[in-house]
Amino acid sequence: MITNIGELVTQDLQREDTDTGVLRDAAVLFEGERISWIGSAKAAPAADQLIDAAGRAVLPGWVDSHNHLIFAGDRTAEFEARMSGQGYAAGGIAVTVDATRGASDQELEELASARVLEARSQGSTYLETKTGYGLDLAHEVRSAQIASRVADQVTFLGAHLVPAGIDPDDYTALVSGPMLQAVLPWVQWADVFCERGAFTEEQSRQVLQACQQAGLGLRVHGNQLGPGAGVKLAVEFAAASVDHVNYLDDSDIDALAASWSPDSSVRADHLGTVATCLPACDLSTRQPLAPARRLLDAGVQIALASNCNPGTSFTTSMPYCVTTAVLQMGLSVHEAVRAATWGGALALRKHRGEDRDGARAVGSLAVSHRADLQLLEAPSATHLAYRPGMPLTRAVWRAGQLVAG
Ligand code: NIG
Repeated sequence: MITNIGELVTQDLQREDTDTGVLRDAAVLFEGERISWIGSAKAAPAADQLIDAAGRAVLPGWVDSHNHLIFAGDRTAEFEARMSGQGYAAGGIAVTVDATRGASDQELEELASARVLEARSQGSTYLETKTGYGLDLAHEVRSAQIASRVADQVTFLGAHLVPAGIDPDDYTALVSGPMLQAVLPWVQWADVFCERGAFTEEQSRQVLQACQQAGLGLRVHGNQLGPGAGVKLAVEFAAASVDHVNYLDDSDIDALAASWSPDSSVRADHLGTVATCLPACDLSTRQPLAPARRLLDAGVQIALASNCNPGTSFTTSMPYCVTTAVLQMGLSVHEAVRAATWGGALALRKHRGEDRDGARAVGSLAVSHRADLQLLEAPSATHLAYRPGMPLTRAVWRAGQLVAG
C-alpha cells in the first residue's frame, strides 16, 4: 500500500468523494497486479507492505498511445538540417527503413526494449508501438513480432510510405492483402499515413477497409503536414484515434466532436475518434502545434503521446509532452495529465476493463484496474509544468511490480 499521498490523481470521475478525481491525504492498496482499495489514508485497511509517500503526488502511469519503437539507425543529420531551416517531408522514413532492414532480430529487439525501459523510467506503464520501418512483407512481419514482445499493443503501419521503385497502387494492394494477412497474428490495430507524399485518400480508404474487414481496430496519421482527408476518414471509419492533427479546419473539428455526441449516428456505443496530439513531434518538426485547446473546447476527447521515432520525435518522455501541452498548447495541468493517462487509454480502448469490474483497465486508478502508478518527487502534478525539465519521476509500478525507482 502507498500511504500518506499528498495528492492522488485517480482520473476516476465516478467516485462519490471527489468531483475532480483528485484525493488528498490518500492511500492506494494493490494486490498482485490489481488495485484493491483507494481512499483516505486514515481509513486505510491493513497491508503487508507500506510505502510512505510522505505527502508526494501519485498519478496513474502514463499511457503512451503512439510510438514507432521498432527501428535501427540515427537521423541526427536530418534533425540538424531541420533546425537550420529545412522542412520535414517524411522522406527520411526511407533512411530508417534501410537501417532497420539491415539490423539483426536481436539488435532490433534490444534497441526497442531499451526504449521501453527508458519510457518506464519516466512513468510510462502502457505503450503502443507501430510497425512501419520494414515496408516489405518479411520485414513488417518481423517488426510486428518484435513489437508484440516489447509493447502492450501493436499497430500495423505497412502504409507508412511507398518504398522507392514500387508503384503506389501495387504497394497499397500488397499492404491491404498479403502483408496484412501475414502480420495479423501479432497486431491489434492498423494505421495509415494519409498525407501528401505518403498515401492518398483513396489508397488510405483501401487500406482501412481491408484492415477493418480483417477485424483490426483502426487509427490514422492525419493532417500532420497540411490540410487533408485524414481526420474525416478516421471519423468515417470509426477509427479509435486520429493522430498529429496539426492542420484542422472547423469542419474537421466538428466531425471529431460529432463522433463523441451521444446522438451520433456514427457509433452505437458513443465512443468517438480521439484526437491524439504529439507535442514533442510538433516542436521537432516545427509544425504548428496541434490545436488541443480548441479540440477540448469543442467537446473532442484528446490524448497526448510521445510518438517516439527517429525522424520527428526521438523521445519517450511523457512528462515532456505534458509540460509542453500545458506551457505551449494552453491546457491546464489537470487536462494535460488526463490526456496523457485516461486519454491514451481511451485512444487504445483500454479505459474500461475487459470484464464488468473494470479488470485490466489502464489510465485511471480504481478498484480492479491494473496497478499502474507513478510516485512523483513533488507534492502535486502541477509541478510537472511548474518545474519543467526536472526529473520528477520517483518510482513507477506496472501491474503491481516496481519497474523504476
Ligand atoms: O508519426 N508521420 C509519419 N510517421 C512518423 C515519422 C516517421 C519518420 O520520419 O521516421 C510520425 O511522425
